[in-house]
Amino acid sequence: MVNVAVIGSGYVGTVAAVAFAIAGNDVVGVEASAEKVAALRSGSVPFHEPGLEQHLAEQLATRRIRFTDDLAEGIAEADVVFICVGTPPGLDGRPDLTALRAATAQVGAAAQGRTIVVTKSTVPIGWGEEAQEILRRTNAGSDMSVVSNPEFLREGTAVSDFLYPDRVVIGGDADAVDTVAELYAPIINQSFPGGDPTCRPVLLRTDLATAETIKYAANAFLAAKITYINEVSRICDASGADVEIVADAVGLDHRIERKYLGAGIGYGGSCFGKDLEALTFYGVDHELDLPLINSVNPSNLRQRQHIIIKLRAALGGLFGRRIALLGLAYKPDTDDTRGAPSVTIARHLLEANADIVAYDPVVKQVDELPNLERATDVYEAVTDADATVLLTEWTEFGDIDFARVAELMRGDLVVDGRNWLDPHRIVAAGLRYHSMGRAPVTPPATD
Ligand code: UGA
Repeated sequence: MVNVAVIGSGYVGTVAAVAFAIAGNDVVGVEASAEKVAALRSGSVPFHEPGLEQHLAEQLATRRIRFTDDLAEGIAEADVVFICVGTPPGLDGRPDLTALRAATAQVGAAAQGRTIVVTKSTVPIGWGEEAQEILRRTNAGSDMSVVSNPEFLREGTAVSDFLYPDRVVIGGDADAVDTVAELYAPIINQSFPGGDPTCRPVLLRTDLATAETIKYAANAFLAAKITYINEVSRICDASGADVEIVADAVGLDHRIERKYLGAGIGYGGSCFGKDLEALTFYGVDHELDLPLINSVNPSNLRQRQHIIIKLRAALGGLFGRRIALLGLAYKPDTDDTRGAPSVTIARHLLEANADIVAYDPVVKQVDELPNLERATDVYEAVTDADATVLLTEWTEFGDIDFARVAELMRGDLVVDGRNWLDPHRIVAAGLRYHSMGRAPVTPPATD
C-alpha cells in the first residue's frame, strides 16, 4: 500500500482520490477551499458525475480517504503527491499555470523525506522540467522526483475510466516510475474489488516529455477524428449521402474504428479545444509547422456555424424566430458547459435576434448566458417554437413524444444537432427533420 496525497479537489482530483482509495490505498485529498473540504467530508461532490458520490460515501466509510485544507499536514505522510489543480486557458489562450506553479512550490516547501510529485493536471510539454526546477528552488536538500501521469478519463464515465483504463502512462526517472506503478498495481492487475482481470490495461513507462506528449497527442487525435467526420457530414449535406452509414462503413475498418466518428455540432468541454490550442502554441514557440493540428479547432467551430446556416435556411431567416434548444451541457451526464457548442450557438442566435429558450435536465446556469430564458421541461421549451434544436443527447430526449411536440410548436422544424433522434418518429408526427449530414427522411405514405 502507498500513501497518497491528491492536491486539488476539482474534477480530476476528486475522481483520482476516490479511485485510488477504491484501489486500496490511503488517500488524503488536499483542497484549499474549506467549503469544498467540508462538502467532501460529508460525502457531497460539488459537480455532477454519475456514481461518484456513492463511491465517495463508501470510501469515507472505510476511512481510506479523508480531506483537508492544510497542505503541509495533508502531504506529511505521503509517498506520492498528485497535483491535480486546474490549468484553465489564460487570457492569451495558453494554459494558465498559476495554480500549478503555486501548488508545486507549496509541495516543495512542505515535503519531508523521499516524495514523488506526480503531475496529473494537463500541462504544456516541458512542464516536468520546470516542476523539477521549482522543487529544487523551494527545497534544495530534499529527495523529490517529478513524474508525469496524464489522465484519460471522460466526464460522465470518470470513475470507470479511471478504474478500467486502456493504458496507464507513467513518465519520469525509473525509481519514481516504479513507486507510482506500485500504486497503480491494483488497477493494472485489476485486483481491486470489482476489477476485471480479463481486461488488464497496458502500463507504459516513459520519460517525462513523452508522457506529457502522449496526453496531447491522444486528445488532438480524438478531436481531429470528430472534426474529420463533421467535415464529411458537410459533404453529405451537399451530396445527399448519409453520414451515419458512411461512418459505419469507414468505422468497420479495424484500422479506423467507429468510436469518435459521431458527427454532430462538434466537440466542446474543457479539454479538446484547450489542448489543441496548447499544441498550436507549442508549435509557435518551437517554430514547428503543424497545419493539421492547427486546423482542427477552427474547423470544429465552423461546425457550430453550420447548424446556424441550416436553421437560417430552413426557417427563411432568424429574426424573431422562436427556437427551443434541448440540452446545454457539452455532452450528456455532466453539468459542464465549458467550451460547449450550445453557448456559441445560443450567442449566434441571439445576435441574429432570434428568441431562444433552453431546457437542460442538469445544467443549472450558464455563466456566459446569464439572461437565457429557461424552460422546466421539453414541452414547455417547444411551446410556440418555430424550431426545436437538439444540442445534447440526454437519455430523456429519447422518450420525447413528438406528436405532442408537433401540437405545441408553432412551426414544424426539428434540427438534430447530434444525429441522435429517431427521424422516422419525428417525420411521422408531421414535423420536418434536419440533421448533421443524415440523408433526408421522407414522410410515411398516406392513402
Ligand atoms: C476527453 C477525452 O475523451 C478524455 O480521454 C480526456 O481525459 C479528457 O478529454 C481530458 O483531457 O480531460 P471529455 O472532454 O470528458 O474527455 O469528453 P468526450 O467524451 O471525449 O467528449 C468530448 C466532446 O466530443 C463532447 O462535446 C462530445 O459530445 C464530442 N464528441 C465525442 C463528438 O462530437 N462525437 C463523438 O463521436 C465523440
